Amino acid sequence: MKKIITFGTFDVFHLGHLRILERSRKFGDYLVVGVSTDEMSIDKKGRPPIYSFSERCSILMALEVVDEVFPEESLEQKREYIEENSANVLVMGDDWKGKFDHLQDICSVIYLPRTPAISTTAIIEKIRD
Ligand code: CTP
Repeated sequence: MKKIITFGTFDVFHLGHLRILERSRKFGDYLVVGVSTDEMSIDKKGRPPIYSFSERCSILMALEVVDEVFPEESLEQKREYIEENSANVLVMGDDWKGKFDHLQDICSVIYLPRTPAISTTAIIEKIRD
């Protein structure tokens, strides 16, 4: 079985999130998603997520293309997470292009283009205005 792993916050779930998960799943048979904990999201994005960790996980787990979720507690632990999950392919959005090439000794590393013109931040700003 070929296992794919990807990571993200997936707050205020939107079409860009759905598309990257659908495209990721095509690289194998089983998709594991490392979901940023609320604490990590605050560190990474400078604000707490709108949806809690457990809400974000519930939405992801309801998707046909997602097989498993787990908490991503630190940005620096990708190697451990890939090994613990025996993942063969790491998929990241191309906003991270080149940043994970050093993991190519344990898995394939693929960067996928982001869906244009949509992001959680843009949605929050649109609602706020
Ligand atoms: N993603 C994507 N296309 C978008 C937005 C996100 O492919 N338009 C991907 C990211 O590249 C990442 C995953 O979805 O692999 C989760 O991204 P996340 O940071 O949770 O979502 P954003 O919408 O980028 O959030 P924010 O605006 O808060 O940075």
